[in-house]
Amino acid sequence: MNSFVFLEKSNSLVKKHLSSKIYKALEHKQTDSGFTLEKAIHSGLENPDSTIGIYAGDSQSYQTFSPIFDPIIQEYHGELENLKHKSDIRELNLPVLDPEGKYIQSTRIRVARNLKSFSFPCHIALSQRHALEKKIIAVLNYLSGNLEGNYYSFEHSDKKKLNQLETKNFWFQKGDRFQDAAGINSDFPKGRGVYLSFDQKLMVWVNEEDHLRIISLEKTSDLSKVYNRLCQCISALNQHLDFAWDKRYGNLTSCPTNIGTSMRAGVHIQLKKLEHKKKLLLNITQACNLQIRGTSGEKTKIKNAVFDISNRQRLGISESGIIQNLHAGLLAIIKAEKSL
Ligand code: ARG
Repeated sequence: MNSFVFLEKSNSLVKKHLSSKIYKALEHKQTDSGFTLEKAIHSGLENPDSTIGIYAGDSQSYQTFSPIFDPIIQEYHGELENLKHKSDIRELNLPVLDPEGKYIQSTRIRVARNLKSFSFPCHIALSQRHALEKKIIAVLNYLSGNLEGNYYSFEHSDKKKLNQLETKNFWFQKGDRFQDAAGINSDFPKGRGVYLSFDQKLMVWVNEEDHLRIISLEKTSDLSKVYNRLCQCISALNQHLDFAWDKRYGNLTSCPTNIGTSMRAGVHIQLKKLEHKKKLLLNITQACNLQIRGTSGEKTKIKNAVFDISNRQRLGISESGIIQNLHAGLLAIIKAEKSL
């Protein structure tokens, strides 16, 4: 008998793909850092409403446990035969989408990065988390020009003071129950913090779901401007850090939904008319390969007709390709909203 039993009601991809045969083949395997199948699927077992239900504990997990990661990745990201991830982090110059700011309130683009030589956040020891944080801070200190800023440690700054700072909207919280069950919240808030540029348009989250989340954001509908800032930051960090990378899967991340470009590029857009024509909106977003999230992020509700619309595809497409595709999709959405 297996020691894993997914609840009947679970529809997660890990439940779907983890046959007894695969389980048996992987149950006693470990990566060099000691990550196991049991740890990888713990969140999916605890949370029957998971959509994926598996996390990687280090870059090796994707190989060691490929019999379960591969079919999940295949189903989530699409056909993978002969896949070779091609990165293209090239600055763009696309027309501004909504110059009058009637619909688009803000743009936010993020990528995730993990260092090859450290365990990922669900499997990292506190001493390593601290060592990693120190290494990242040293590199962030090289950022210059408009990327220059400060690092705010969650551990060493007084909590009250952090919450009073006008920058408090930029801090991340302790992860949700999915991340919690995976082990991502261990020792929170130790070893965590946020780097924020002085102009508050670039931030780097340290030790959240991934080692780094590099985020460019601005109250604008100028996608290129936000994207180009991100490109600058990525290339600066690339010079000093050795990121986990796989030639088929691109950037390796804690959650297999984020591999490839690891990019989520999206806007907050107010669609007062389309709010009442959800089916039409869904048709457009699906046709353009975009996804809709709630106003305050993943698994939240829509407030005041403000939708969070972003790319769905992260693998089998380049970074610049994502931005171009998002641009085209948002043009179609704005056109539909205007016509109603
Ligand atoms: N593990 C969660 C699930 O399977 C989250 C998946 C995607 N979200 C994320 N933040 N990685 O539903």
